[in-house]
Amino acid sequence: MRQDLLNHPPKIIFVGGKGGVGKTSIAAALALHHTALGRKTLVVSTDPAHSLSDAFALPVGGKITAVKARLDGLEIDPDAQVDEHIAEVLASMKSMVKPTLYPQIEKQLKLTAQSPGTQEAALLESIARLIDEREQLGYDLIIFDTAPTGHTLRLLTLPEAMSAWTQGMLQTSQKAQQLQGVVDHLSSSRQRAPQHPLAEPKQHDGADLSERNQRIAERLRRRQQLFQRTRDVIKDAQQTAIALVLTPEKLPVLETERAVRQLLEQQLPLAALWVNRNIPAHADGEFMAQRRHQEELYRAQIRTLFAGLPVAFLPLFERDLDGINGLQQLVQALAEHPLEVL
Ligand SMILES: Nc1ncnc2c1ncn2[C@@H]1O[C@H](COP(=O)(O)OP(=O)(O)OP(=O)(O)O)[C@@H](O)[C@H]1O
Ligand SMILES: [Mg+2]
Repeated sequence: MRQDLLNHPPKIIFVGGKGGVGKTSIAAALALHHTALGRKTLVVSTDPAHSLSDAFALPVGGKITAVKARLDGLEIDPDAQVDEHIAEVLASMKSMVKPTLYPQIEKQLKLTAQSPGTQEAALLESIARLIDEREQLGYDLIIFDTAPTGHTLRLLTLPEAMSAWTQGMLQTSQKAQQLQGVVDHLSSSRQRAPQHPLAEPKQHDGADLSERNQRIAERLRRRQQLFQRTRDVIKDAQQTAIALVLTPEKLPVLETERAVRQLLEQQLPLAALWVNRNIPAHADGEFMAQRRHQEELYRAQIRTLFAGLPVAFLPLFERDLDGINGLQQLVQALAEHPLEVL
């Protein structure tokens, strides 16, 4: 299905691409475009090295912030998400076990926090929640400005990253239960009086414990369901579009080729390739002519490699696109250079 990202956008747009090619600028310009057309838009940076604030020349932080009428911004902080999550799990663990076990549990949670994938999982959870709650939050459109390509693709293969996160938590909870079991055994097994449950506090604790574990398991199940719903939205071309940004240069073309292959393999709705920073024909001088010649070779390569995909070529401007006014040039360029299937 051919998507029209400027006139009939889906609900969710992901903008990805190699470092420095113009992802944040394009995400911000798209947001300004849709806001101007009356769509209530949220633009979210998921890259730990945030630059939305720089693009808009306005402070945007870890809480949803108004950028202008109908446009809000948010820079997700994965470290803060992990810390918040760990604190939450720790609190619920503490209600389950004896204080003597706290240090072991804390140690284990800290290990989980540092294990590969945890930060990404926390980021994914934030993304998933935003997608899931878009309507309640009142947005017609959410645009995600993502970290460089490889990372974005990993993020989009949600279930893999999620299962690591969920399993880490389940293991922690099982471990807590085992530890509690050992402590119970040591402290009270010799005084057990199973025929009279009220006389046996440990057994009572045990019942309570398993009920709490059930609550935790239920929470984990709900989280998995959230990720399943998110994945369904992301895979649906009616609801989501993925745009890749590149420049007419060797490495961005190579990296985009890989990204395109992976997205298509995973049947994710790749909707745009924006080739940014093309030196305009009026740029004068021998040096510029040489650069333009080199770019032309990469544009030819792009036309061959990405045949059948919607591509647009956007100009390099004289200056950086600073602030909302600066970005207007790019908003205009997006409209003047519509995506065309090669
Ligand atoms: N077409 C363009 N012409 C001139 N300057 C541009 C153009 N596109 C982007 N820029 C400028 O290039 C710089 C990098 O752009 P941007 O921050 O959007 O890239 P990015 O892909 O988000 O980078 P990062 O990977 O670091 O997040 C910015 O200063 C931006 O204003
Ligand atoms: Mg950026």
